Amino acid sequence: MRKIFILFVTSLISAAAPYPEFSRAPYVQLANHEMTTVVWRTAGPSTPVVKYGQTADQLTEEVPADQILIRLHPDEKGPAPLFHDTPKGTHQFEATIKGLSPDTIYHYGIFQDGKQITVADGTHHFKTHPIPGSEAPVYFWVVGDSGTGGSAQAKVHDAMIAHNEKTGRKLDLYLHVGDMAYGSGTNKEFSDRFFKMYEPTLRNTVCWASMGNHEGRTSKGASGIGPYYDAYICPTKGEVGGLPSGREAFYSFDYGKVHFICLDSHDLDRKPSGEMAQWLKADLEKTKAEFLIAYFHHPPYTKGSHDSDREGQLIEMREHIMPILESGGVDVVFTGHSHIYERSMLIDGAYQTPTTAEGVVFDDGDGDPAGDGAYRKSKGLTPNNGTVQVVTGHGGTGVRRVGTLPLMRRIIVENGSCLFTIKGDTIIGEMLNLNGEIRDTFAITKKGVVEHTPIVNPWQPKPKGEVAEKSSGKVPKNTTALIPKNAKWSYLAGKQPGGSATDWTQTAFDHSSWPTGTAGFGYGDKDDVTYLSKMRGKYTTVYLRREFDLPEGAKLDSIGLSVSYDDAFIAYLNGKEVLRVGVDKGQGPTADGFTLHEADNKFDYFPLKNVAKLLEPGGTNVLAIEGHNANIKSSDFTIHPLLLIAK
Ligand SMILES: [Fe+2]
Repeated sequence: MRKIFILFVTSLISAAAPYPEFSRAPYVQLANHEMTTVVWRTAGPSTPVVKYGQTADQLTEEVPADQILIRLHPDEKGPAPLFHDTPKGTHQFEATIKGLSPDTIYHYGIFQDGKQITVADGTHHFKTHPIPGSEAPVYFWVVGDSGTGGSAQAKVHDAMIAHNEKTGRKLDLYLHVGDMAYGSGTNKEFSDRFFKMYEPTLRNTVCWASMGNHEGRTSKGASGIGPYYDAYICPTKGEVGGLPSGREAFYSFDYGKVHFICLDSHDLDRKPSGEMAQWLKADLEKTKAEFLIAYFHHPPYTKGSHDSDREGQLIEMREHIMPILESGGVDVVFTGHSHIYERSMLIDGAYQTPTTAEGVVFDDGDGDPAGDGAYRKSKGLTPNNGTVQVVTGHGGTGVRRVGTLPLMRRIIVENGSCLFTIKGDTIIGEMLNLNGEIRDTFAITKKGVVEHTPIVNPWQPKPKGEVAEKSSGKVPKNTTALIPKNAKWSYLAGKQPGGSATDWTQTAFDHSSWPTGTAGFGYGDKDDVTYLSKMRGKYTTVYLRREFDLPEGAKLDSIGLSVSYDDAFIAYLNGKEVLRVGVDKGQGPTADGFTLHEADNKFDYFPLKNVAKLLEPGGTNVLAIEGHNANIKSSDFTIHPLLLIAK
């Protein structure tokens, strides 16, 4: 017993000394096709080196000491002092690894006195960029407004890791659109709410950041000083392609055929005459890229937790910066600040205040290759050929929606993040929520020459809360069921009923070839009796029919539906539409414009008005329902209707 105790103490001592703990674990920064920078901090003095090689067990190369910059607290003499709120004794090491091969994975380790002090589990690695201008796919993660250090932030990060493990994919890079260290972007907040949280990703993926207003409380774009500027090493001299900006606050970089532009929407001049806009114009003139991605914190279009019709920074980014980006041919603009996911249609020229959809929408479809089809643009960068705006400020804070921005195709009030792929001639964007579900998919294909003209009366998103307003919520007292809970229905799943769009809703329609099943119908969420195991990924609509009798003296004006549903449905009585929830237009296969809704094991009550004249007391009556899933890849679907009448 005693022996074991001594051994235990000895091993503790040898693990803790003589190497000071990392106060910021190693992470990668500023990378191009032949260079990467590894950054880390120790809480006290040390003299480490970085070794690297193409396999984890052969770290044969070493970064020369003169390529490692050591930065200290301003009270301790040294080059490029850290911000004054950094603990005294902190050593920040910035090791530039040069002379690498393009598009190649390298492993690295930090060594002290010949001993490796990073975990040797093969997770410390990086991949160099492909040769500039070359045809190489890029897969990247985009996150905004995440820096709480809380469980939602952790879930969003874990969901991304799990998704990539499941799909066998690896990130090439990571964009953060700001508000990464609440509340003031201090040194400690950065360590606790950014570096600790994302450590497994940051050790092998470069985060290319843009500054949020919260970081702006301690870090200043004009001087490039503060905890934000200590954390990141951004290109100022065109090290990664793009025009040198001379500032870390705004910069551009290339990855293959993609040009990325980061702007500081927080504390620099946003006017066309300002230094940032002037650099942006010159940078856009110079680029030879075929895809253009811009990102910054303040969204030009939002009605999430912020309103782009009312707030100065947002209005200025729309009125002054968007015309420059769109004349440069921008494809996608990522922003945050507003704690929501909002994704636009294909738009151009929407600079007026307030924002309207008149004359600015080129394609009002959903952009989903499995839905309305990908948005189309000309090959290369063509001025004013259409932009998709993505507000992705849902990375970890409480989400909120104040209204409806008329350019948005998807408005989802959930925590999550974005995963984007650019490959061949196509950009594919996905929104992954904190539960690991893909909640939005769209694509932009850039081929040949595509000319657009604005659509007259484009599709419009549902006003906030419209579905909830239709439902009275509670079932009135003293009702009886004409069609009870868990009733048997005739149903059609994965097929179309044939005939005209509403033939199948008529009383006389012959549904004898349809199977029968017990309600509810669906999959996922474990709340369905008739389990539609083949629905996910294959079809989105289920048709239900059921005959019912009206008791003598029935109060035909006091009839209503109680429905558990995910996402949307249309109800018909004796062949006439009587209720539509979460479906904008069309029916059956042409139904479109869905509002997402979770069943959550709840039933909503919808009174049916003016239906007495449709009903046949003493005759045959039919309730027909079409249930719709908004997204073919959704993780769940439910339709479970009850028909109720006053006693
Ligand atoms: Fe913000």
